[in-house]
Formats: sequence, C-alpha cells, structure tokens
Amino acid sequence: MNKTPNSSAYKINKLIVIGLGLLGSSLCAAAKKLGLARQVIGISRRQSTIEIALKKGVIDRSEDSISQLADEFRDGDVIVLAVPILSFPSILSECCKSVPTFVTITDVGSVKGSVIETAESIYGYIPDFFVPGHPIAGSEKSGINALNSKLFGEQKVIITPVEETQSKHINVVKTLWEQLGADVRLMTPDEHDNVFAATSHLPHYLAYSLVDTLSKEKNADSIFIHAAGGFRDFTRIAASDPTMWHDIAVTNRDAILEIMDRYMHNLNDLRSAVSNNDSSYLIATFNRARDIKKSSKNKMNSLIDYRAKSVTGLRGTIEVPGDKSISHRSIIFGSLANGMSEINGFLEGEDSLATLNAFRDLGVVIEGPQDGRLVIHGVGLYGLSAPKGDIYLGNSGTSMRLITGLLSAQPFRSRLVGDESLSGRPMRRVTDPLSDMGAVIEITEKGTPPVDISGTNKLTRINYLLPVASAQLKSSLILAAMYARGLSTIEEPVITRDHTERMMSAFGCGITSNVSGCIKIEGGKDYRGTRIDVPGDISSAAFFIVAALICPNSNITICNVGINPTRIGILNILEKMGADIEVINERHDLFEPTADLKVRYSTLKGIKIPKNQISLAIDEFPIIFIAAACASGETILRGAEELKVKESDRIESMAKGLETLGIQTTVYDDGIKIIGGEIGSGTVNSNHDHRIAMAFSIAAIRSSGEVLIEDCKNVATSFPNFIDLAKELGMRIDSEVR
Ligand code: S3P
Repeated sequence: MNKTPNSSAYKINKLIVIGLGLLGSSLCAAAKKLGLARQVIGISRRQSTIEIALKKGVIDRSEDSISQLADEFRDGDVIVLAVPILSFPSILSECCKSVPTFVTITDVGSVKGSVIETAESIYGYIPDFFVPGHPIAGSEKSGINALNSKLFGEQKVIITPVEETQSKHINVVKTLWEQLGADVRLMTPDEHDNVFAATSHLPHYLAYSLVDTLSKEKNADSIFIHAAGGFRDFTRIAASDPTMWHDIAVTNRDAILEIMDRYMHNLNDLRSAVSNNDSSYLIATFNRARDIKKSSKNKMNSLIDYRAKSVTGLRGTIEVPGDKSISHRSIIFGSLANGMSEINGFLEGEDSLATLNAFRDLGVVIEGPQDGRLVIHGVGLYGLSAPKGDIYLGNSGTSMRLITGLLSAQPFRSRLVGDESLSGRPMRRVTDPLSDMGAVIEITEKGTPPVDISGTNKLTRINYLLPVASAQLKSSLILAAMYARGLSTIEEPVITRDHTERMMSAFGCGITSNVSGCIKIEGGKDYRGTRIDVPGDISSAAFFIVAALICPNSNITICNVGINPTRIGILNILEKMGADIEVINERHDLFEPTADLKVRYSTLKGIKIPKNQISLAIDEFPIIFIAAACASGETILRGAEELKVKESDRIESMAKGLETLGIQTTVYDDGIKIIGGEIGSGTVNSNHDHRIAMAFSIAAIRSSGEVLIEDCKNVATSFPNFIDLAKELGMRIDSEVR
C-alpha cells in the first residue's frame, strides 16, 4: 500500500533523477544529504557527468536509461525529469513503456502547459501520476560542477497539478520539496506560463538580445571592457544555458510573444519620449517603475506574520509617519492645482502610494517620494488625461471613493479596481449621490468595485445631507462639486474629519464650511500649487499611545502628531478611561494643528463610549478595544455599525481575536461589550486588516505568553515602519515571512 506523505519522516523509496545538470544534481545532493530517499539514482547521457556525480557522492548508483529499471519499480519511487524541455517527449515515451503508473513522475521545467500536452500526447490521456513542477532556483550557472545542495532552501517551487492529477502524487512531490526547505505554491499551468513569460522569460530574451546587439557594435570591445552596473547584469543573465532558453522560447511561445509585444510597444513609447524630449513622460515612467516595489502593485510578497511577546517599560521619543488621509489629499489637490506643489511628510505607505500612482496614470508628473518629499507638477482642474488601463488602488478605500468622485467629472472613461478586501467594500453611498449629479458609473450588483466611470463634463450641482457619517463620501462629493456648475451644499449631521476642507482652504480653492457642518463649494474655480507639510498620523500614534498606557513603567513621547479636533476622539476616549496623556508643544499656525504627546502607564477603567466620539475615532477602535481589554470592568460601544465595513468587519475580527486571547466579549449588530481581563497567548488572524494586525501586536505587551498575529502584510498600507518603531520603544516583536 502507498504511504501518503504527511510528515518529515516520510522517505521516498528510489529517487530517480534524469538529467544531472545544475537542478538535477543539486536535487540529488540535497536528497542524499538529508537522507530523503532509500536510494538516489542518477541518469545522464554523459558518462563524464555520471562519474562526477558518483565521485561527489550525490548519487548511490547510475543507469543509462529508465528502461533499465523496469523490473525494479516499487511503491514510493519517484522520477524527476531534469532535462531540457525538448527532451521530454523521448524520455516520457520511455517512461510510458517501462514505468508502472503507481510511480510518481515530476519535472523541473520552466514551462508547464506544453509539458502537460506532451505527456497527454504520449500516454493518450493526462497521466494522474505526473505532477508538473518548477523550482524557482535556476541561475545563469549550469552543469553538475555548479551543484549546490542548499539550492532549494527557502526558494519557491511551483507545482501545477491539473484536475486529473491524484492528490497522493501531489503530496509526494510537495513533501519532497518541502523537506528540502522550499516554499511550495500551487498554480494552474496557464497562470504559471503567463507569469514566468513576463518575469523570467522576457528578461532573459532582453538580456540575450541586448548583449547580442552591443556585441555587434564597432566599439564592442570598449563597451564590454567598460561594462558598467546595468549592462553587467544583462551580461550575467545572458550567460545562461542557451539550450534551455531555446527550449523555453519554443514551448512557451504564445505567452512570450504576447508580453514581448507589449514590451516593444512600451519601448517604442519611451523611444518617442526620448526623441521628443518629453520630460513629463520620462519622469513619470521612471518614477512609476521605481516605486513599483513600494506600491501595492507589488503582490509578489509572501504572507507575513508577527510574533510578539510581553514587555515592561516602554521608553523613548519617536515620530510616526505622515497622516494617511492628508497624504491622499495632498496628491489629489496638488495634481489639480496649476503649477508646482511641494509636499513634505508624505506617508510612503501602500494606500497613499496607490493614490500617487493613480494620478501618474492620469498623466500627472510627480517627483519622489524621497524621504516623504514630493514635487507635484499640477495639471490644473481640467488637465487630467485618460488612463491607459485600469487604475489599481490596492487596499485603499479612501483612494477608491475620492477618485470616483473626481473621475465622474472628467471627460473620459476610467475603471477603478482594488484588491480582494477593497473589492468587497460598499460604493453605493458614493455612486448614488454622484449619479444624482449626472455621473454615469457602474459597479457590481452587490454595490462593490470595480467602478466603471463613463465620465462627463456636465455634472449638476448638489445639495446633499450626508446619510452616513463618512469623510470619504463627503470628500468624493466635494471633488465632483468642484466641476459642477454653480454652488453645491453638503451638510453633515455628524462631524467627520475635515482634511479635505482644510486642504482646499490651504490651496485657496472655492470652499467654505462652518462649525455646524455645512460646506459650500463653488464649481469651476481653479487654484495654484502650494506647500503642504503633512503632520504625523494620530491613527498610527494611537497604537503606541495605548502600548504605553497598558505597559507598566512606560513613559514615551510621540512628536509632531496631527491633533485636528475631528481626529482626537482617541484622546478623548482614553482620557475618560483614565489615561495619562499630556499634549505639549501645540502648534495651531499651520493648516492642520500638531502637538507632541507624552504618554505614561495608567490604570484604565472601562467606560461607555460616548456616541459623539465615534466618528472622531473611527479608525482607532481596534486599538481602543485592546485598551478596554486591559481596563477594569466593562467597556461598551454602540452605534458603530460603520466598523463592519472597514478593511474588515472590525467588530467581528477583534471579538474573535480577543476571545482567542481569553477576553470576554459580546457582539451587537452595532458594537461590542468588552470585559477587561488577563490577556492570554495564542494565534489570531488580522483578516487582511492592517489595524487589526497592529492592535493585536500591542495586546501582546500584556500577554501571559506569546501572540502570533497572522497575515500582517497590510500593515504596509498605513504604517510601513511599525515594527521598527515598536522595537525602538522596547517592544519584543518580529515579523516572519511565510
Ligand atoms: C478616511 C475616512 C474614514 C476612515 C478612513 C480614512 C478619509 O472613512 O475610516 O480610514 O481619509 O477620508 P469613512 O469616511 O468611510 O468613515
């Protein structure tokens, strides 16, 4: 009977590796070293390779061909094809004749679709024992002399099973790679071939072609002798195995051609920009490309978890990164201004970078960010241009809602898309009133993104009473109203953050607002660029404020925090709970007031959270719930249904995690009751929500053991240096890549 591998103790019977190049011989070496198979057998066309393999001790024995093993096959045998892809037909034909169907066959080829087709054409059906695989561990080195038994450690291995592939065989292959320390991912063959055509195959062909082009130049000798940084990288890539790259070109032809065409088109555009001295195009393209790693388009990262432990005595003076809401608005209003704006303190988090990239897509030239500094070359109210493709906004609800308002008033079509969490967030609150103004917008039946905007320059003015307390809705309508003829009036019965109004005043746009929440916007008023200094984000500071409050012997200072009255609900609520927070060095001369906050450990008590503080602390409830868990008695929050439609359902996410850590909660349809207690240890999940991830990291300060917080990648949307600052204050927290 076949043993299904599910533990590190699982042992392959015979591991037969056909082809002893870099990958094949490294696989044998690693398997031998770790004792993963009872026998490692190597098959190679070249006798000299076999001799080296035997001499290095990476195989137990060799055979000339697979048919010689015909009488020996047993359950638990695994064959790995590690030969160039165009040799697969002959080898698989041999396997078809002499290998029984209980033997697992896998491969290490860089193309998967054609390999499956080959297997199907030889066997006459898709073999259920064939598990296509691709370790992402190749390099420009090749051959057995480059073998490295650690080649696969911490590398990704993609396996691309199809419907027919038996799970027993998938498990065998998965276990083999995992035992070698690799991170195994599953993909469909198509997805694999498209992704690798773009990220591996195209770059190799560019390298071959560039090196070939330059080698034909008259001064080739001089070029190659003086090869500086960039070109040296190309020559390194172009030193890869020609047979292998030939085979890949032949077998992944369609996917490669498609991406090559798109690349050539883009290169042509770049050529025209160079020839026309089109600085805007050049700076925009280079900036966009440079920032791709930082931006939310970079989805190649693995999962990130945080592991946090208890501490006592947080100390130090820190500054938190720029305010996220103000950073978004600095890009929007800087882009729509006439002339240049300089922004300092911009938050280089994924959310605000999503807004930045969106405006680059809309034709605005933005220099930076460099240490939080940006220069925006504003195009004026009517200067945006149609984007070339979908505008990707990652996780950012603020970008999606505000930009929808703005683009509904532009004379071109656009489509806004986001990640999984953003694609589930409500948009009707924005699209309904915008449609009343004459906007033509389509969203899904569920009222969620993608948002398809037809665009019009004929919006009518609006007089609107906000039905939900939402600064995003208010700001979206303000942006649309800037393009409507006449005076629009927006009234908010519940005060929400007023950064849009303050920034418009700073830029000198046509807006007035009064304390009772009535905002008037004059359409069609253009304005000039200015300088904006973004203060530190109180929503980020909130995590360390609570950290110091719940951690005995703590005394910290957070400098230059925005203390806009529409954002200080967190301070008001914590003060009511007994917090010792001193607000010093207040500055009210800027468009947004700032101060330094001195926070000391305090004994907190549970409270009923005043309803009038909810919209002023809307993003801070995850961390307020942690304060409540460490307070004596009950804390009750009602009237906060908006928390259910944030980056996650924050009531549910927090209640679940708190319960795991031993804190009693009662969930209501509009809030939660938390009974303070001892925080235990355990594993909680952030539900892709940055603020849930950070809140539970802070909870660990009071944990009896360790708290593992799963899925923390999205912390980068709002607070990229959270871990660094936490450590600076003395927290024990580490991030782990899964
Ligand atoms: C924001 C407004 C709030 C807040 C969000 C940022 C803004 O959302 O939760 O993080 O920048 O306008 P709502 O307006 O939907 O409450």
